[in-house]
Amino acid sequence: MSEVILSARDVVREYGGSGRSNASRGKVDAVAPSRVLGGLRDRAGAIFGIGNTPLRAVDGVSLEVRRGRTLGIVGESGCGKSTLARMMVGLLAPTSGNIELDGRSVEELAREDRQKLHRKVQMVFQDPLGSLNPRKTVRAILEAPLKALHGMDQKARRERVAELMSLVSLRAEFTERYPHEFSGGQAQRIGIARALAADPELIILDEPVSALDVSVQAQVLSLLADLQARLDLTYVFISHDLAVVETISDEVVVMYLGRIVERGSREEIFADPRHEYTRLLLSSVPGKHRARARA
Ligand SMILES: Nc1ncnc2c1ncn2[C@@H]1O[C@H](COP(=O)(O)OP(=O)(O)OP(=O)(O)O)[C@@H](O)[C@H]1O
Ligand SMILES: [Mg+2]
Repeated sequence: MSEVILSARDVVREYGGSGRSNASRGKVDAVAPSRVLGGLRDRAGAIFGIGNTPLRAVDGVSLEVRRGRTLGIVGESGCGKSTLARMMVGLLAPTSGNIELDGRSVEELAREDRQKLHRKVQMVFQDPLGSLNPRKTVRAILEAPLKALHGMDQKARRERVAELMSLVSLRAEFTERYPHEFSGGQAQRIGIARALAADPELIILDEPVSALDVSVQAQVLSLLADLQARLDLTYVFISHDLAVVETISDEVVVMYLGRIVERGSREEIFADPRHEYTRLLLSSVPGKHRARARA
């Protein structure tokens, strides 16, 4: 088994609520560890007063990501996938629990040395066009991290941008264009190139192909697999689509209402799903899993 690059321990993230301090919220966490156990949830509601209960988007998640591999995270809309992703890259702090990258707290790194953090971990977003600045050319978009994170001079940046364009199979002349001139698939290649510009070890891909047509999805998935092998990358691949997760993941965790309900190797999850919710997800995948999921 390869070494663990990222680990999450009992990670909780809440939104909203009474606006009390985290310390007083921490006390309530102790009596209300779960949102799926109705009675305890009601108790938390009673403590805060009706309407003041915070929404627990991520509810006690623990997981490990191994170097050079892909962890798939699958679950329906609203189950907390993006919240977890944002905590993994330090854009959001956990309400409680901890995420470590190479043994260092992501939350601390985000506070103390954001550049160091961003040289290690990068994110690719669901909406390829929306995540690119419409007023900047591809060159400006790709040069920004080269300058900010690696202090490259102009000549080095030019060379690296050409290399990045070739890595994601975009023609060199596209470098001077603006995001709106691209298709969704091309825009996502730019999103991937921007993540690669940081030269990271780990990339968190939050629904990277969900906005794309099926044929384009396959091309981008194959590019991601190719880049992983060439550049020795580790991926966390998030999707609501089990079929997509199956094509790219080594290990899979299934999330439901902020919690992990099942985890295993890709083979285990797809050949022998144990949790009722995983079976339900599998039964909605067209084609090959249907009969097995029903059986
Ligand atoms: N900034 C926020 N403020 C309040 N609630 C939020 C915020 N962001 C997310 N939520 C809520 O937290 C829960 C988890 O949201 P999250 O975006 O993490 O889910 P997701 O699994 O990524 O969903 P999707 O598949 O739609 O992207 C949802 O109920 C969502 O409405
Ligand atoms: Mg999301």
